[in-house]
Amino acid sequence: MYFYYNIKNMKDKNFYIENYGCQMNISDSDIITSILLKNGFTQSKNLDEANIILLNACSIREKAELTLKKRLEQLKFYKKNKKIWIGITGCFSKQIKKIFLEKKIVDFFVSPDSYREIHNFINYSIIGKKYFFYDSIKKKNETYADINIIKQKNKKITTFLSITRGCDNMCTFCIVPFTRGRERSTDPNSIIKECERLYQNGYKEIILLGQNVDSYLWIYNKKNINQNQKNVVDFSNLLDLLAKKNPMMRIRFSTSNPHDMSNKVLEVISKHKNICKHIHLPVQSGSNKILKLMNRKYTREKYLFLVKQIKNIIPECSISHDIISGFCNENEEDHQDTINLMKEIKYNYGYMFSYSPRPGTYAYRKLKDNVPKHIKKKRLQEIIDLQRKHSFYRMQEHLGKVEEVLIEGESKKNNQYWYGRNTQNLIVVFPKKHLNIGDLVHVKIKNTTSATLIGDICI
Ligand code: 5AD
Ligand code: SF4
Repeated sequence: MYFYYNIKNMKDKNFYIENYGCQMNISDSDIITSILLKNGFTQSKNLDEANIILLNACSIREKAELTLKKRLEQLKFYKKNKKIWIGITGCFSKQIKKIFLEKKIVDFFVSPDSYREIHNFINYSIIGKKYFFYDSIKKKNETYADINIIKQKNKKITTFLSITRGCDNMCTFCIVPFTRGRERSTDPNSIIKECERLYQNGYKEIILLGQNVDSYLWIYNKKNINQNQKNVVDFSNLLDLLAKKNPMMRIRFSTSNPHDMSNKVLEVISKHKNICKHIHLPVQSGSNKILKLMNRKYTREKYLFLVKQIKNIIPECSISHDIISGFCNENEEDHQDTINLMKEIKYNYGYMFSYSPRPGTYAYRKLKDNVPKHIKKKRLQEIIDLQRKHSFYRMQEHLGKVEEVLIEGESKKNNQYWYGRNTQNLIVVFPKKHLNIGDLVHVKIKNTTSATLIGDICI
C-alpha cells in the first residue's frame, strides 16, 4: 500500500532548500526555487516550517559526500516526528542514491537536467507514488534557457548565470561528467536577455558559470540567420556581446580549462573595462606524468605558456588555481614539479585538495590510490603554506594603488566597514562613510593580509 496524502488538504507546499557544493549548485538552487514558486509552492527560510526539504547535493570530493551523509542521518530523526518529504537534487552519486533509498530517508532524487519538472516529481511523491529517481539521461539539451529566474530579495548585487552545463572533458578523477552529463551551451539570446533582466532588477555583477566556460559554443541554424550575422558564437564572441550590451554590468566567469582558453578570449577581456581581470585556471598538477594520468590534455609547458600570454595581454590579471595533491602514482618528484610551478607563477590564490577516489570515475576503476594518507596530508600542507606566502606577496602589489571596488555588503569582522571586490576578485574592506551596497567606488589600498586588502575611500 502506498501512503496517500491529499494535496488539496495541504495548506501549502512549503519547501526549504539547503545548498552544498559549488557556484553551479548555488545557481541551480535559484532555478529550482523559481520553478517551484511558479508552480504554487511557497518557500521557507526555516527548516521547521517546511514540509518539503531539498538538499542540493555535491559529490565532487569524499568530504562533501560525508557532509551530506551526516546531514541526512540528522534528518532521519526529524522525519520520525513530522510528515515531511526529503528530496536530493544536484550532484549525487549512485552510492548516495542506493544507501538513502534503502534507509527510506530520501523520498525522491532529481538530477540536474530534470529540474523543469521538479514540481511534478514532488507532487507524485506527496501522493505516494514511488517514482524515486528522476534522471537526466534523456535530457541532453536542457540548458534552462528562458527560465526567468526569481532571485531572492537579499540585497545581493552580484549573481550567477550558467552558460554551459555538464562537461565532456572526462578528467580521470572527476565525477562531474557522470552527475551532470554531457556538455551543452545555452542560446546566447537567452543569456543576453537574462543579463539585461538582471541589470534591470538591480544586479551590478554577473558571474558566468560553466564547468568549462571556454568551450562555450552556439551554432545557429544557417536558414534562420541573416547575412550579417555570424552563425557561430564562441566564448570570446559571447563575452564581447555581453560586455557591449551591458557596459554598466561587471562580468566575471568561471571556470576556465587551460586546454580550451584562447588568445581571442584574452583579447576580449583586455578590451572591455567591465570584464573583470581575473582568471580561475585550475592546473591540478605541475607534473606532466600526473597531468597525463589525469587526462588533462595540456602539459606543464603549455600551461606556463598560457600564463605568460595572460600576463602579456592583460598585465593586471590575477590568476587562481585548483590543485589536487596525492593523485595516483604521484611521487616526490611530481610533487616538487607542482611546487616549482607554483613558485614560477605565484598565484594570487587557489583551492587545494587531497585526492579522493570517486566511485565510477576512470581513476577509481583503473588506477591505484597508492599515495599514503600521511604523505597526501604532508604534501597538501606544503602546497597550502606556499600558496599563503604567494597570496601575501601578490597582495603587496596592490599597496598604495587606487582600485575600483563594487560594494557587496558589510564586513563580517567590523560593521563599520564595507567589503567588496576589485577587478582581480580580491576582497577589499574599508570604512563605510556615506556609501551604499552596489556603489562602484575608488579605494586606496593601505594595508593587506594574505586574504584581504584594507583601504580607504578616495573622494
Ligand atoms: N579528489 C580531489 N579533488 C577533486 N576535484 C575534483 N575531483 C576531485 C577528487 N576526486 C577538485 C579539482 C577541481 C575542483 C572543483 O575539485 O581540483 O578543479
Ligand atoms: Fe571535472 Fe575535468 Fe570537467 Fe572540470 S573539466 S568538471 S575537473 S571533468
